[in-house]
Amino acid sequence: MKFNIAIDGPSAAGKSTIAKKLAKELGYAHLDTGAMYRCVAYFSKLKDVSFDDEEKVASLIDAMQIHFDAQGNVYLNDENVSNEIRKNEISMLTSKISAYPAVREKLVAMQQKMAEHKGYIMDGRDIGTVVLPNAEIKVYMVASVKARADRRYKEYVEKQIEADYDTIYKDIEQRDYQDMNRKTSPLKKADDAVEIDTSDMSIEEVVNTIRRLLPAEV
Ligand code: C5P
Repeated sequence: MKFNIAIDGPSAAGKSTIAKKLAKELGYAHLDTGAMYRCVAYFSKLKDVSFDDEEKVASLIDAMQIHFDAQGNVYLNDENVSNEIRKNEISMLTSKISAYPAVREKLVAMQQKMAEHKGYIMDGRDIGTVVLPNAEIKVYMVASVKARADRRYKEYVEKQIEADYDTIYKDIEQRDYQDMNRKTSPLKKADDAVEIDTSDMSIEEVVNTIRRLLPAEV
């Protein structure tokens, strides 16, 4: 029997890296919901839509086809946007548009439809609380701001994305604040989620900790 696994937590806590690895080991599908919100921000910028116009931003979603390949690349209407959507400017804009209920409603519906048949590992901010409240396994992943800024900086350097450490650090703090304090689906731990602090853990250790939460047959 396949399960759905929800992984939530603040930005750069390692959710996507862990979800991707775990999905590969278990033969599950990985859905990075943050990438979907990022695509909406990227597309709004591309189409020159005002970021203050909730309805216009949300209506763009109807013209968007998002898909992922096996390597985790993100395609928006067949264009590989994997690097573009990770840029700092897009991260900040994403945090803004993801507070809009009209945007969330559309993306949540898409995510719920995708996971209907189980066997999904979804990572985001509201998976355990809103998208998949009945997920069999829920993880809430946290890490110190410093650990997260260090990781994001390293990731940017490796991907040759322009990066300034202090800006990354401050942006993480600001995004935490925005994500935790918005009215619609703020980032918070589901009551039945298991919290894992990944600050001093390796990727392997986190993956193994989650695997120990799974029943033997998975
Ligand atoms: O996970 P990632 O950092 O790529 O997410 C980018 C932004 O998208 C977050 O800062 C958050 O504002 C938003 N997001 C969200 N709900 C999700 C996933 C991401 O609001 N399920």
